[in-house]
Amino acid sequence: MTTNDPTKQTLAQLSVDSPTKVAALFDELRSAFDRDAPLDVQFIGMDATRVKWLGRKAGALARIADNWLKTAPPELKQATGQAFNELKSHIEIALKDLHAKAAQQQDDGPKTVMEGTRAALSANISGSATMNAAAQGLLAMTVEDLSLPGVERAIGTRHLIRQTFDELLRIFVSIGFSVVEGPEIETPYYNFEALNIPEHHPARDNMDTFYIEGARGGHLLRTHTSPMQIRTMEKQPPPVRIVVPGKVYRRDNPDATHGYMFHQIEGLAVDTDITFCDFKGTVEYFVREFFGPKTKTRLRPSYFPFTEPSAEVDATCHVCGGSGCRVCKFSGWIELFGAGMVDPAVYGFVNYDPEKLSGFAFGMGVDRLAMMKYGITELPLLFQNDVRFLRQFP
Ligand code: PHE
Repeated sequence: MTTNDPTKQTLAQLSVDSPTKVAALFDELRSAFDRDAPLDVQFIGMDATRVKWLGRKAGALARIADNWLKTAPPELKQATGQAFNELKSHIEIALKDLHAKAAQQQDDGPKTVMEGTRAALSANISGSATMNAAAQGLLAMTVEDLSLPGVERAIGTRHLIRQTFDELLRIFVSIGFSVVEGPEIETPYYNFEALNIPEHHPARDNMDTFYIEGARGGHLLRTHTSPMQIRTMEKQPPPVRIVVPGKVYRRDNPDATHGYMFHQIEGLAVDTDITFCDFKGTVEYFVREFFGPKTKTRLRPSYFPFTEPSAEVDATCHVCGGSGCRVCKFSGWIELFGAGMVDPAVYGFVNYDPEKLSGFAFGMGVDRLAMMKYGITELPLLFQNDVRFLRQFP
C-alpha cells in the first residue's frame, strides 16, 4: 500500500461526510481488491494476500477498523459499520474461492514454463516475509504472461445500409455502370433548375429541403442524387453510364418510413442508341438480381420534370409473391423507385445534342429497398445504431 493509501486516513481526512460517500469509498476499495487479489495470489501467494487484506495487525481491514470505523462521527457509524461487514465477508468469500482455484491448479501442475516459474516464485515468496531482490526482478518479468489468451475485441460489421449499397452497386457495376459521388450541399441550379424544375414549379413542393443561410447564391442540402446527372454530363462527353450513391435530405416529418435524411442511388445512361427497351431491360435485370429471379416488374406512368416518359417501377410483392397481402395492400405490387427516359430539355442544360442522344435515368431509395428486402418496418431502426438490431445483419 502506498502512502496515500486511504485506509491510513480517517473519514474526516478523506472528506467523507455522508453515507453515500461512505458507500463510494468502500466500493472503490472493493474494486481494488477484486482487481488486485487474483494477481496477488499468483505473484505473492495465497498467504501473503490474505495477510495483506485480513491480517490482524497490518491487514487493510484492520486499518479500516482503526481509522474509519472507530473515528467515524455518530451519524456515519451505522453506514460505515455495515459497509465494513459487507466488504469483510466479500473478501473472505473471494479469498476462499481463489484458494480453491489455486489448489485446483496445483493439482493440474504447471503447464508452461511461465506457470512453473510463477509457481516456484510464489512458493518461495509466500514462505518468506520479504522478497529478495532477485525474486522481485523475476516477478517483474513474469507480469506479462504471454501464454494467456489475448484480449478479444468485438469485431464490427458493415451497417445494413452499407451492405445494401454494396449489393446495389455490385449489380450495376457488373453490367457496365461506373460509380461516382457528388456533394451533399448543392446549389438550387443543380438540384432544381438544370433538372428542368424552374422556381415556383409545383414539383418543388414535395422536395422541400434545408437551406444554408448566408451562402453566396444560396445553397441547400440536395433533395435527391439527380444533380449528379447534370454535373456528370457537364464534365464528360457521351456515352455516360453512372450510378451515384449518397445521402439526400428533405424537410419531411419523421415517421416510420420518413426522416430528414435518407440514401439514394441515382442511375444515368446516355448514348446515341439507347431505347426504352434498354431502360426496361436494365430495370428488370436489376430487380431480379436484387429481389430474386421470380420477381416480376411493371412500369406505371408517373411524372418527373427531368424524364419523359416517366415511370414508377413496381415489383411483385416480396412477401406474398404477388397474390396480395397486407404489405402490398392486396394489390400484389410494391412501388420500388422512380425512373424514365431523360427529358430532352435536360440535354439543353449540359450542351448535349438532344437530336442525337437518348438515355434513361432512375433514382432509388436505398433505405426503402433495404427495409423491403429484410422486412424492416421502422426506418429509425436503421439510424439508432442499437447493436441488438445491427447484430441481426452480420
Ligand atoms: N430524383 C427522383 C426522386 O428523388 C427520382 C428519379 C431519378 C426519377 C431519376 C427519375 C429519374 O424522387
